[in-house]
Amino acid sequence: MHAKTSSAAPEAIQADALIVPISQLEEGQTADPQVDGWSGGVYQTALDSGEVTGKALELLVLHRPAGVAAPRLVLMGLGKPAEQSAAVLRRAAAAATRKLQGKGIESIAFLLPGRFGSEHEAQAIAEGVWTARFEPDVYKTEGRKESSLRELLLLATGDAVELGLARGTAIGDGQNTARKLAVEPGNLLTPAVLVEKARELAADAGLGIEVLDEERLIDEGFGALLGVAQGSVEPPALIVLRYRPKSPARPDVHLGLVGKAVTFDTGGISIKPAAEMDRMKYDMAGGAAVLGAMQAIAALEPPTTVTAFIPTVENMPGAAAQRPGDVVTTLSGKTVEVLNTDAEGRLILCDTLTFALRSGVNRLVDAATLTGSVVVALGHERSGLFCNDDAWSALLLACSEKAGEKFWPMPLDAEYREQLDSPIADLANIGTRWGGSITAAKFLEAFVEEAPWAHLDIAGTAWIDAPKPDMPKGPTGVCVRTFVELALTLSTPAE
Ligand code: BES
Ligand code: MN
Ligand code: ZN
Repeated sequence: MHAKTSSAAPEAIQADALIVPISQLEEGQTADPQVDGWSGGVYQTALDSGEVTGKALELLVLHRPAGVAAPRLVLMGLGKPAEQSAAVLRRAAAAATRKLQGKGIESIAFLLPGRFGSEHEAQAIAEGVWTARFEPDVYKTEGRKESSLRELLLLATGDAVELGLARGTAIGDGQNTARKLAVEPGNLLTPAVLVEKARELAADAGLGIEVLDEERLIDEGFGALLGVAQGSVEPPALIVLRYRPKSPARPDVHLGLVGKAVTFDTGGISIKPAAEMDRMKYDMAGGAAVLGAMQAIAALEPPTTVTAFIPTVENMPGAAAQRPGDVVTTLSGKTVEVLNTDAEGRLILCDTLTFALRSGVNRLVDAATLTGSVVVALGHERSGLFCNDDAWSALLLACSEKAGEKFWPMPLDAEYREQLDSPIADLANIGTRWGGSITAAKFLEAFVEEAPWAHLDIAGTAWIDAPKPDMPKGPTGVCVRTFVELALTLSTPAE
């Protein structure tokens, strides 16, 4: 699949489908005369028939419109002008691509709406088209939905369009990488396999990689992480990926991205109920998002120093598994009473956060499918954002907004920390039933000291159980776009 720009007139473009963004019109408004002009009046006719209104994500495919070289003209709704954004454009482009790509269509051309700046529009369309190509049917031996699409054409030219296109394709590739990893089942994607995939990704992208194996983790003293891993025959690992720009724009900034990668979470001895336990193959989605983001960052080469840390384990019950009530000594030296072996994400993350800070990072973000509680609080629309620094939180929210990923700020008041008091150790790994996503975040906060740190609880957003027009059911790759945007934003002087 490749993308390019074209200065051709829309009616002259050679492509299997020409996609024209349209707005939802007010009563009495008529079709854009320009589009209506070169398309021989089909736009107004379609409006008059009521078959199209311009509602967001609406699509109408018209065949062989007179005077248009492309055999299909697709009217693609973006909604009312006031409700439009690059995010809507990305989703509409994805929905259009998903509708067309199974039908033998090899090339699609997009007209830019000309509303949000051509760089952002080109990026949004490229992201939409690229991410639309992912299907979760990877192990079907028959009837896989394969995309026939080979070429994306943008009917616009110039440096801004080229830049947007390069960003959109790199970010779309990164998001798909995250989704491909996340969809893998627990038997086929063990910690060792994830390490291999990370090595391949690093080699292809030109990233530095270091893997701390079990022996090294024991030597260093990752007691909390090792406690989780001890119930599984699969040895744990900590994957470290390094991106070093040739000349950093801000030598004082070193971004650390941390991603939870539990390749399967049975709950351990505090075992989970059988219903829907299969979903716990996605418990490595945070780590997958960090890998996808690093791939895109390596491709886009922003002048920001970024290091990724991905702790990977399998959480299993077994003769060697840790017991409720066990006390472990974390890498930081703090002791933890493991009251529930199913609260394992915070145990592998706390040691990783300590290690990341000792490695010299001074801005931290982690992504983790950490709690069912955040799904109760925010459902499947927004990820929970927990942050110990107002400026860092504002920057992350701004980046997520630009990237079209929805976060919601959650509290970290000191009072919540009391739930983690333990009579035997420095802290317990669970609190009460109430405010469970917050106490999980408070647990992590205890290990980050002074550095600006943000935690994204993506338990409700890392996959979807029902298909949407722009995305099949399965892993979403959430956080990849925001993390890349963060690396790009941190390379400009004003943080
Ligand atoms: N991986 C789960 C969280 C999760 C739940 C993700 C549902 C996606 C959907 C995590 O390790 C976990 O089990 N958390 C427990 C914590 C509890 C024992 C304090 C939970 O949320 O039930
Ligand atoms: Mn768990
Ligand atoms: Zn988990």
